[in-house]
Amino acid sequence: MKRAVIFDLDGVLVHTDKIHYAVWVELTEKLGIPFSPQVMDRVRGMSRMDSLEVVLSAGDRTWTQAEKESLAKEKNRAYVARAGKMTSADVEEDVWRTLDALRARGVLLAVGSSSKNAPLILERTGLGEKLDALADGNMIQRAKPDPEVFLRAAGLLGVAPGEAYVVEDAEAGIRAALDGGFTPVAFGGSAAASPLAAHRIDRLSQLTALF
Ligand code: G6P
Ligand code: MG
Repeated sequence: MKRAVIFDLDGVLVHTDKIHYAVWVELTEKLGIPFSPQVMDRVRGMSRMDSLEVVLSAGDRTWTQAEKESLAKEKNRAYVARAGKMTSADVEEDVWRTLDALRARGVLLAVGSSSKNAPLILERTGLGEKLDALADGNMIQRAKPDPEVFLRAAGLLGVAPGEAYVVEDAEAGIRAALDGGFTPVAFGGSAAASPLAAHRIDRLSQLTALF
């Protein structure tokens, strides 16, 4: 019996994946490195540094650790400058309706995100008030496709992995969910084509039919 849903944040509850994308485009244009929606799909769900490694690997030079750290900082500054301006109006009506409908059914709700900016986004949009728990990039050693962040979220909710759905737009997140013993639900992004997903939805509100 399922009694919880753990949502990925970027690209699932909010369109911050589009902000990540725009910032990667700016950075790679400046560095003269090719970037594309396909590269974006590969880095969905990965940590900031892991994503940077993948993005830089499309170029033809190597970077020192200090240079990489400085690029990661620059990317994050640009991201926060935009994402920090989000409000509740940046969350789709279907998302609010879904969270309220699930809560009304007694379903426990959490976010499991690789992002260190998850607390900022939840605070700016007001989404945090609808959640019972948050596990994010500040609390884990290993980002997706490792299941650590989802296991942490389940622990905070007090549920076993088998009692929770994980909703993801990232292939890495679907794999993490499966490896952790959760039931993965694909919602757009690179997850939509994943053969590992147990369910596929194209509107978040379709989740309510699973309870
Ligand atoms: C999310 C996004 C990734 C991003 C990662 C780190 O999972 O899908 O594209 O790289 O978080 O986010 P951060 O806000 O910590 O840089
Ligand atoms: Mg995502």
